[in-house]
Amino acid sequence: MNAAVLATSRHWGDDYRQGESLARHTTFRVGGRADLFHAPRTIEGLIGAIELCRGLRLRHVVVGGGSNVLFSDRGFRGVVISTTAIRGVLDHPHGFEVCAGEPLASLVDRAEKQGVRSLSFLAGIPGTVGGAVAMNAGIRDRSIGDMVCSALVLTPGGLVREVSSKECRFGYRGSGIRQDGLIVLTATLGVDGPAYDRDGVIERKRATQPLSFPSAGCVFKNPDGGSAGELIDRSGLKGMRMGQAQISEKHANFIVNLGGATSAEICKLIDIVRQKVYNTFHVGLDLEIEVIDG
Ligand code: EPU
Repeated sequence: MNAAVLATSRHWGDDYRQGESLARHTTFRVGGRADLFHAPRTIEGLIGAIELCRGLRLRHVVVGGGSNVLFSDRGFRGVVISTTAIRGVLDHPHGFEVCAGEPLASLVDRAEKQGVRSLSFLAGIPGTVGGAVAMNAGIRDRSIGDMVCSALVLTPGGLVREVSSKECRFGYRGSGIRQDGLIVLTATLGVDGPAYDRDGVIERKRATQPLSFPSAGCVFKNPDGGSAGELIDRSGLKGMRMGQAQISEKHANFIVNLGGATSAEICKLIDIVRQKVYNTFHVGLDLEIEVIDG
């Protein structure tokens, strides 16, 4: 791809950057440079950018808050499209209609201001509503999929469709949205359900998770009926370091960036964890984070 030619395309408007460091756009603070980084400000702009990439057969990836991804140290040869500039929350008869790039934190804030505390279990989870819906983010006993009434998505064929909660096929830290390559544009969230104490939710996370270092949250999904953190801990891997990447001393399912960690170092730790946990407990751990090749 000739990024220079691409960058001059009128389709990108003003919101593109060549050679952008992806470390700036991920909570891990890791990743090389993208040929082109584009953050459209509107849903129409997002659809246009994706369609342009598809039409020109340009390698591209759509990301939200970068809280669950690990880019390569080589960066990304292609276009990284970020939804983070597409924000907005509208009142809706069922609750709220939310744009993909809205941070979960500000959604929770808005809901609480209106006296709604059923979304407060999402407090303290970094990232955007679009990313959270696609991966069904949440806590142990509740996920955002439980609150989704419907979502407006872009299909791989370029159609904008409304999909029902059932069609989203939410599962543990995954959904049909992700499997089918749909891009979330907006999500309609209901407000029925138990109320959560936002401060309590955040406090519990602070007590058990290493929030003062950059990370991508839990690295592995919990295996059926078990806890990845506990298995990694019992494998004796807490605190293990590879360069500036470390298996957290506080919660073993987190890998933290102590400052200047590389993607390669994190990948090495991921391999070690998988091997050791398999050898010790005969349990294969699946990644929760998405590793994106350069
Ligand atoms: N444990 C250990 N050692 C550790 C970590 C945990 O023994 O180093 C034990 C704990 O003592 C506990 C059990 O493992 O008995 C479960 O740990 P915890 O309560 O911390 O929950 P988790 O299953 O590890 C899940 C989600 C988190 C979410 C928390 C709190 C997954 C993979 N993780 O963690 O989500 O914040 O519950 O609700 O589903 C994320 O998705 O990125 C994430 C961090």
